[in-house]
Amino acid sequence: MTLAWPASYSHGPVGVRPLRLRDAQAWSEVRIRNRAWLEPWEGAPEAHGRAPWEDRHSTGVYLALLHALRREARSGRGFPFAVTWEDRLVGQVTAANVVRGAFDSATIGYWVDSEVAGRGVVPTAVALVVDHLFDVVGLHRVEANVRPENAPSLRVVDKLGFRCEGRHERYLFIDGAWRDHLTYALVREDVPRGLLHRFTAG
Ligand SMILES: CC(C)(COP(=O)(O)OP(=O)(O)OC[C@H]1O[C@@H](n2cnc3c(N)ncnc32)[C@H](O)[C@@H]1OP(=O)(O)O)[C@@H](O)C(=O)NCCC(=O)NCCS
Repeated sequence: MTLAWPASYSHGPVGVRPLRLRDAQAWSEVRIRNRAWLEPWEGAPEAHGRAPWEDRHSTGVYLALLHALRREARSGRGFPFAVTWEDRLVGQVTAANVVRGAFDSATIGYWVDSEVAGRGVVPTAVALVVDHLFDVVGLHRVEANVRPENAPSLRVVDKLGFRCEGRHERYLFIDGAWRDHLTYALVREDVPRGLLHRFTAG
């Protein structure tokens, strides 16, 4: 256990906390119910793509995923946050690909249940996680990669003031093909009083 993990934060009805064993049922239910909402935007290796969505989101798969994510967290390579709305699991913000040294950077990914979309849940959760990465983990840069067609996700990075660094062609394998992505990033100096403070101050 380190100072940086486990960690939990909240702002109003939105919370972020480590994924837990007892999230298995809720995670499987929300992921299976949101297939059409999530599948166009989520990376999956080609071999996974051939397995039925329901099989890739069983409680057993969740437990294997959690095991792998916890291993990453123990070694400081990733931070797998559950996103909650009024204490109910509604999504994830995951910081992955943590590289230390002169780079001190991580990549974040996120999703939320379509039932609570449009309430600012993910921008708030991302702000809480980014503040943790900058202030507690000590990273300098956070990036997010978004498909140019993903208008809601582009709104998230725009609302949070991430800068567009450029376009990567055929960057991630998503929904059956290699898809271009726009890379957005934020560095610690951009938010001297914290990202949540800047976001909520408007
Ligand atoms: C992208 C996503 C995480 C945004 O989360 P969120 O908590 O809804 O974020 P916001 O509330 O700030 O809404 C962002 C934009 O989504 C759009 N939106 C809102 N409600 C929506 C709905 N019910 N359906 C579709 N789009 C909606 C709006 O354009 C909104 O921007 P606005 O606030 O300026 O109107 C969410 O849409 C999602 O999980 N999508 C599927 C997975 C995904 O795309 N993940 C990101 C991959 S890079």
